Amino acid sequence: MSWTRKDLLALEELSKEEIEFILSTAESFKEVSTREIKKVPALRGKTVVNLFYEPSTRTRVSFEVAAKRLSADVINIASETSSVKKGETLIDTGKNIQSLKADIIVMRHNYSGAAAILARNLDISVVNAGDGWHEHPTQALLDIFTLKEKLGRIEGLNVAIVGDIAHSRVARSNIWGLNKLGAKVTVCAPPMLIPEAIERMGVRVTEKIEEALENADAVNVLRMQFERDEETAFPQQLEYFKDYGITQERLDRAKKDIIVMHPGPINRGIEISSEVADGGNSVILEQVTNGIAVRMAVLFLVAQASGKTESDSNEQK
Ligand code: CP
Repeated sequence: MSWTRKDLLALEELSKEEIEFILSTAESFKEVSTREIKKVPALRGKTVVNLFYEPSTRTRVSFEVAAKRLSADVINIASETSSVKKGETLIDTGKNIQSLKADIIVMRHNYSGAAAILARNLDISVVNAGDGWHEHPTQALLDIFTLKEKLGRIEGLNVAIVGDIAHSRVARSNIWGLNKLGAKVTVCAPPMLIPEAIERMGVRVTEKIEEALENADAVNVLRMQFERDEETAFPQQLEYFKDYGITQERLDRAKKDIIVMHPGPINRGIEISSEVADGGNSVILEQVTNGIAVRMAVLFLVAQASGKTESDSNEQK
C-alpha cells in the first residue's frame, strides 16, 4: 500500500492496513538508531515544529530525536514561553508556523480534537502528540510495535489495560489499534475511572484486577492523572495501590512471561511497584526506544504524502 494521509490524528480513523504499514515502516527505521552515525537524509531540508501546550518528556524528545535522525531541522515551542500567553489562538499560531515554512507540526494539546482542528486549517502536516482525553496515536503505535517485537504477533493476544481509563488518551488509542489488529482487550479500573459505555469500543470490562491479569499476555499500566481533574481524582492513592497496583505478588499469579508496559511517566508505588517497573517482565524503557522508530516512520510517511521527502527513500536509507 502507499500512505496518503498528510496528517496523523487518531488510530480510530486508520485501517488495519494503514496501522500495519506504519509498523513495518518503523521496523525498517529501527536499525538507523544502531548505526554509528544515527542519521538518514529522508527529511533533509525539512522543518519539524514541536508545538506543546502540555508538559512532556518522552513524546517531545522522542519526536525531536526522530526528526533529527531523518535529518530534519527541529524547532521546539512550549506554549508557556510563546505568544499563546498573549492570547494568540491555536489556528493563528498554526498559520504563523506554516508561514514560517515549517513542513510538519507535532502538537500536544489539552483539548480533545485540537489536532484535527489545526489539520483542517493548515496545508502542512499535523501529527497528534496527544489531545486531551481523546487519542495519543504514536504512543499506542509504539506500544503495539513493542508487543509485536516481543511476542511476534498481535492477533489473538489478550491485553489488559489497567488504571485511569477515564482520562486516558493512551487507553483509547490502544483500544482502537489493538482491536483493529485482532487482539482482545480487557480494561480494568475502579468504577469511577471507567468511562460509561466503554464496552461499545469492543472491550471487556472488569473491576477485578485478578480477572484482568488472568490469561493476559500483556498488561499496559496507566498513570493516575491527578492533574487533569482534581475534584474527581481518586482520593486514596494507597488504597488504589492495594486494590489495583501491579505488584510482583500479582504478577506471580499471572502468565509467567506476561509483558508489563507503561506509557510513562510512572508513579512508583501508586499504579506499579518499583520491583515490577524495574523487573524482568517490564519493557517500559524498550517502549521509549521503540518510540523513536515509530515516530520516524510517522514523520516520514506524512511528509511523503505531502510530497516532502527525498524522491527515493530507499536510496536515502
Ligand atoms: N507517554 C507520554 O506521553 O509521556 P510524556 O508525557 O512524557 O510525553
